[in-house]
Amino acid sequence: MSKRIVFTGGSGKAGRHAVPYLLSKGHKVLNLDLVPLDCPGVNTLFTDLTDSGQTFNALSMHFGFDGYETGKGPAPVDAVVHFAAVPRVLLKPDNATFEANVVSTYNVIEAAVKLGIRKVIIASSETTYGVCFAEGDKDFHSFPLEEDYDIDPMDSYGLSKLVNEKTARAFAMRTGADIYALRIGNVIEPNEYDRFPAFIADPPSRKRNAWSYIDARDLGQIVDLCIKKDGLGFQVFNAVNDTITANEPTEAFLKRYAPKSPITRPLGEREAPLSNRKIREVLGFKEEHDWRKYVPKA
Ligand SMILES: NC(=O)c1ccc[n+]([C@@H]2O[C@H](COP(=O)([O-])OP(=O)(O)OC[C@H]3O[C@@H](n4cnc5c(N)ncnc54)[C@H](O)[C@@H]3O)[C@@H](O)[C@H]2O)c1
Repeated sequence: MSKRIVFTGGSGKAGRHAVPYLLSKGHKVLNLDLVPLDCPGVNTLFTDLTDSGQTFNALSMHFGFDGYETGKGPAPVDAVVHFAAVPRVLLKPDNATFEANVVSTYNVIEAAVKLGIRKVIIASSETTYGVCFAEGDKDFHSFPLEEDYDIDPMDSYGLSKLVNEKTARAFAMRTGADIYALRIGNVIEPNEYDRFPAFIADPPSRKRNAWSYIDARDLGQIVDLCIKKDGLGFQVFNAVNDTITANEPTEAFLKRYAPKSPITRPLGEREAPLSNRKIREVLGFKEEHDWRKYVPKA
């Protein structure tokens, strides 16, 4: 069913693929961002989400000029997808990264639920698993990385995402809204598969991403599945593709390259160490963009 979706950060790396995916499923989208998105049929409302007043307004406006034709004011919003963020460390001073991500996410979730929007999907991150932006060579506690892991980032970006998950949980408890946090893996755009031969040739180089990734278009599918699936309250979902970015079977690979991290359950032969089992089982995710389709046999 066609939904009216406010998407934040749609002009960015992930959003510019996820938004067209949502349009292809028949949804209507308004993009909230600081910079334009080149996507026919999608208006970008220039909004600074660190400002609560702007955020409340942006979630209660027309999506475009056609909204004025009804004479009934802005139509209700069915879901908010919040991807806008400072997307990693070392782009801004640490405190500015933390502040922007925590405040904007608080503002978006608060405005959404107080305006009566019952579905919010936020971008959390693989970095919450604590290794991606760690000082030095930190080991994962165990594999696979699943949603009940004791997340323990030490960097300001990963910490902001951990706090955002708590914010989501608090508002879901307070209001009964569905708020789903996606722990997104390393986002790969269609033109980035030429990086994979180097990933395969140098396994230690991908430890920080737990030898996992998410195709930006498959991320669009995950968002669409979250929009469709109601009634789960607060949820965390790993948002990654099915398989490990290596040629060896997963268990043998991990024993070799992550020997200090115990394996806590039998892993699928090529299962991604940052496991997507929950989105497959709960949401019905079926990946369309296995990296092997795009990478000559390494
Ligand atoms: N790229 C990855 O590999 C990756 C991995 C895990 C999680 N994530 C998360 O996924 C989301 C999307 O990541 P991305 O790679 O597309 O990032 P990106 O930087 O390419 O896009 C983020 C967008 O948010 C906008 N934005 C930033 N601050 C804003 C503000 N105050 N108000 C309004 N808009 C603002 C930016 O203009 C940009 O267009 C982010 O939340 C990021 O933290 C990304």
